[in-house]
Amino acid sequence: MADTTKRLQGHHALLTGAGGGIGLAVTAAFLAEGARCTALDIAPAPSAGLQALLAAYPQALAYRSADVTRVAALDALVAAAAAQFGVVDLLFNNAAVFDLAPLLEASESSYDRIFAVNVKGLFFVMQAVLKALVAAGRGGSIINLASQAGRRGEALVAHYCASKAAVISYTQSAALAMAPHGIRVNAISPGVVDTPMWSEVDALFARYEGLAIGEKKRAVGLAVPLGRMGVPQDIAGAAVFLASAESSYITAQTLNVDGGNVMS
Ligand SMILES: NC(=O)c1ccc[n+]([C@@H]2O[C@H](COP(=O)([O-])OP(=O)(O)OC[C@H]3O[C@@H](n4cnc5c(N)ncnc54)[C@H](O)[C@@H]3O)[C@@H](O)[C@H]2O)c1
Repeated sequence: MADTTKRLQGHHALLTGAGGGIGLAVTAAFLAEGARCTALDIAPAPSAGLQALLAAYPQALAYRSADVTRVAALDALVAAAAAQFGVVDLLFNNAAVFDLAPLLEASESSYDRIFAVNVKGLFFVMQAVLKALVAAGRGGSIINLASQAGRRGEALVAHYCASKAAVISYTQSAALAMAPHGIRVNAISPGVVDTPMWSEVDALFARYEGLAIGEKKRAVGLAVPLGRMGVPQDIAGAAVFLASAESSYITAQTLNVDGGNVMS
């Protein structure tokens, strides 16, 4: 008999950027709550963390290597995932890249890369999932990954901040467009989370602010009202909540999961 205590039983989640920090933790949480999961990442083979999950959940987890910026391939990818585990009715839209530079040096190539993944990829993955969901006449829940960086600009981080502000805006537009279909669209806005991305962030701040490696990471952790950087598992509870029926009257919101950094 199905375990009705699991909050995502009977659902199929697509998670992008699932090989990395937050995506991997949320994949583990969705599986533990009974969802079937398609984990997508640009890496040709699953990361070590995903390999462990594939061994633990051989019937419920599949890995697909794809680049979210290759828009022409996305409909087929969503259809292939659906052929395996049923219509995708949960999306954890998480793949993103980071870069920073002083404003007068912020380059076109950096802009193109950040907007291709964080904005174009995120929008068209969401659209591909929504097209299939609407065609199937099914409800569902979309969770986009924004950032505290999307709430206000930063002198060194213009392109990335703008990309995350776009995520918040697309979340609101999609939520309004999809409300008549019973599909909810929300975003999670993390603060500072200790993931592979933050090693890159720390190294870039070290270069441009003349800091030692690790210094920026320590400082941002101490500045969090709850007194520490987040860990990927800190995002998982909010993700399961927004995916589950417990949040059935919540849409168009961007939820700060950041230890108190941003107040709203
Ligand atoms: N770590 C933080 O402090 C923080 C803070 C705010 C928001 N976020 C957001 O949370 C999300 C997850 O961040 P993270 O820290 O876990 O990052 P991460 O770098 O650890 O993981 C991101 C994953 O996305 C994948 N990816 C990158 N480009 C891709 C592409 N074109 N197609 C498919 N996959 C691709 C990477 O391979 C990686 O596995 C991102 O949207 C990020 O912007 C992170």
